[in-house]
Amino acid sequence: MHSILVLFLFALFAIISARPSEPTIFNPDGTPKSSKRDVSLADLEGLTRNSRDRSGKAGDPPEKYFHESTFDAHYDGRFASTTLRRDERLMHLRSLVRSYLSTMQSIGAETWIMHGSLLGWWWNKRIMPWDSDIDVQVSEPALKYLASYYNMTVHTFKDAEAFGEEEGELIKEERKYLLEINPHYDNPSTDDYMNVIDARWIDTTTGLYIDITALRVNRTAPTHNGRRPSRSPPRTTSEPTRLYCKDMHQYLSNQIFPLRDTTFEGVPAKVPYAYQELLIEEYGGDSLVDTVFKKEYHFFDQGKQEWVPMTTKMVQKLMEEDRDAEAEILKEELSKMARQRGKKPSRKPKNEKDYKLTIDRNTDERT
Ligand SMILES: *[C@@H]1O[C@H](CO)[C@@H](O)[C@H](O)[C@H]1NC(C)=O
Ligand SMILES: *[C@@H]1O[C@H](CO)[C@@H](O)[C@H](O)[C@H]1NC(C)=O
Repeated sequence: MHSILVLFLFALFAIISARPSEPTIFNPDGTPKSSKRDVSLADLEGLTRNSRDRSGKAGDPPEKYFHESTFDAHYDGRFASTTLRRDERLMHLRSLVRSYLSTMQSIGAETWIMHGSLLGWWWNKRIMPWDSDIDVQVSEPALKYLASYYNMTVHTFKDAEAFGEEEGELIKEERKYLLEINPHYDNPSTDDYMNVIDARWIDTTTGLYIDITALRVNRTAPTHNGRRPSRSPPRTTSEPTRLYCKDMHQYLSNQIFPLRDTTFEGVPAKVPYAYQELLIEEYGGDSLVDTVFKKEYHFFDQGKQEWVPMTTKMVQKLMEEDRDAEAEILKEELSKMARQRGKKPSRKPKNEKDYKLTIDRNTDERT
């Protein structure tokens, strides 16, 4: 029995070490070219067009590993010098998620979409046009695997290979994406709040990135049989374990596993098992049925199966409705105030004389 296990592990090890190594901008043994702990602009020679570092490093606490740009928290300031136009952003985000999902699939790292991206998937398997980022999670073993073999690796991806996309919505040139793993990834404590992002997938052309967070087993939570939970959550639906991310989100293992196979933005993707329950928990039941998204002036076109911007007329109508609703609320408030003024004082009279006085006062008020 044991010898079979040893043989199996040996074979596994052989397979892993036989993997073709990815191009890396760091030494083959994984040590950085510089002695600095984080990756500065100078270390990224050849990978960025930026001549000046626009990362917010200077203003960040020294314990924080990832630095957002000084001009916008959704961009990496080592690669970007400005934000994209809002109408351009979507196409870059789509390419970003396709490159990420395709790469993770081909290297065998388990990942799935969550939060806003999951809501977009629910409607039409796409990013919602007003979304400014993409939300994904990985399993703990997947994060360990990425940290061990893929930190600071550069991956090329050509969007034109994605199917189901119209010409003009695709990024034509081949792009380079950087996978960077937070060295604090092996600190499971939520007290390490400066490093809740375990890894990043960065578009080296635009500076847009995907935050990657690992879903971890809560090893302090009690289990059914009283034993400590194992590192990998059970893949069955019975006896769920508690899971969490360093960003404080908590789940039960049977809400996430077994993952479901699907597509997102035209490429193979995975979603959590109880996606509907998770979406209702996070965004409320209306988010799954409301075809009007007022806040962003979009509506879901059933024919096109797409979120489209409202016409000027629709926006005007919506504003009129809002005004009417506000007027209605105001009217109600006023009549409530009037009713309250007409009410008897709630103070209980102490004796008969007081009681008489109160009655008199009320009668006065009414006349
Ligand atoms: C990834 O590489 C960078 C650059 O060398 C380094 O600062 C960081 O600590 C590495 N992360 C891990 C998980 O080793
Ligand atoms: C782990 O589970 C315990 C017990 O349910 C809970 O109090 C704690 O907040 C959980 N920890 C995390 C990091 O979610």
